[in-house]
Amino acid sequence: MANAEQQSGKTVAFKIGLLGLGTVGTGVVEILNDCQGRQPLLSQVAIHRVGVRSPDKPRAVSLPPELLTTDLEAIVRDPAVAIIVELIGGLEPARSLILTAIANGKHIVTANKAVIARHGDEIYSAANQAGVYVLLEAAVGGGIPIIQPLKQTLSVNRIHRVAGIINGTTNYILTEMSQAGADFDTVLAEAQRLGYAEADPTADVDGFDAADKIAILASLAFGGRIRYEDISCEGIRPVSAADIRYAAGLGFAIKLLAIAQCDEHTQNRLQVRVQPSLVPKAHPLASVNGVYNAILVEGEPLGQVMFYGPGAGKGATASAVVADIANLIGLLAMSHADGLHPLYGCGHQHYCDVAPIAELVTRFYVRFFCGDESGVIGHIGTCFGQNAVSLESIVQTDTQDGIAELVVVTHDVREGNFRAALAEIHQLQALDNITIQSILRVL
Ligand code: HSE
Repeated sequence: MANAEQQSGKTVAFKIGLLGLGTVGTGVVEILNDCQGRQPLLSQVAIHRVGVRSPDKPRAVSLPPELLTTDLEAIVRDPAVAIIVELIGGLEPARSLILTAIANGKHIVTANKAVIARHGDEIYSAANQAGVYVLLEAAVGGGIPIIQPLKQTLSVNRIHRVAGIINGTTNYILTEMSQAGADFDTVLAEAQRLGYAEADPTADVDGFDAADKIAILASLAFGGRIRYEDISCEGIRPVSAADIRYAAGLGFAIKLLAIAQCDEHTQNRLQVRVQPSLVPKAHPLASVNGVYNAILVEGEPLGQVMFYGPGAGKGATASAVVADIANLIGLLAMSHADGLHPLYGCGHQHYCDVAPIAELVTRFYVRFFCGDESGVIGHIGTCFGQNAVSLESIVQTDTQDGIAELVVVTHDVREGNFRAALAEIHQLQALDNITIQSILRVL
């Protein structure tokens, strides 16, 4: 069969089965078709088969047509293939194909955060048993190198916190809301028209994409598996233009942060959460705008390092996929009498003990509407005070038709106490006409 290897006339040690030829798959083929000036190890691979849904669809990339097949199952079982590059995304059939490939002794490179975050347990258990690698640099932060640094260079530190902007769609929306003063629905519609947001934006705007990604980062940073249901996940739908305006007045930007943290603010228990947050404008994450991603890692003795760059897109994500292919070739060229290389394999088997969100200690921003009458602020203050919630500031920002708008920022408080205070304030609705408009945490 004529394939890329025979076409180029190069000696090939490792054959790749590529699953998916969408945007990222096309970027991967473009890099592998044009290796001059890149990592020399890439000369040792060739694309052997490409699994697609529509083989006759016109393609933007040069590939011998006979490489394309709709039979993905045959690719993951093909004895000639050493490395499966899974770029179809989603849970099924990606999970089944990965597991079949592993059972057939293939190494895996994937950009699929959802399948790893939700099925990493069975995938890594199977991979460890089969003695194959599952590499996933492209799954988090697109082109930003963060997976291998966490596994290797940063792993000698005790990590206290990983905090990132790891969803470009929501960062684009929040940036546009901030710059144009527009509301969420307006900016989302415009982002969808421009192709920056999906027709079904749920995974991005409700935080699920970021939750998959922080599950992966937390697992690497804190050395244990993360149950997806232990992640506290809030998206950006409740963030209004008013919140962004008031936050700016108080010196904050609003960002969707994904945080995995284990320090005095979490009583030294691991917490994993995705939440729209107020970030002080001087903080490096506050100036990460548009579709860009950034991940801040804090550890001892290192201090802070921040990784910044394009979190999605053809070239950026393909760069991370091909980096994993190059890493694999390097690993496979070595002899492994003692099993998988510890800095590339998955060493942990247990689940992390993740603390409930009620145990978090943080500052909060709350915006209320209430009757503009004497005693209302006193009632609110009493509810907070009775629950040991200390206030940093309380500002009446607007009054219209007898209804006042209040913005409250707390000191560091235990989330459980703060929620108890809010429940009491909620009881005041009949008395003081109080409604809670938004609640955000402060980084
Ligand atoms: N949908 C993701 C984002 C890109 O908006 O960042 C792929 O992970």
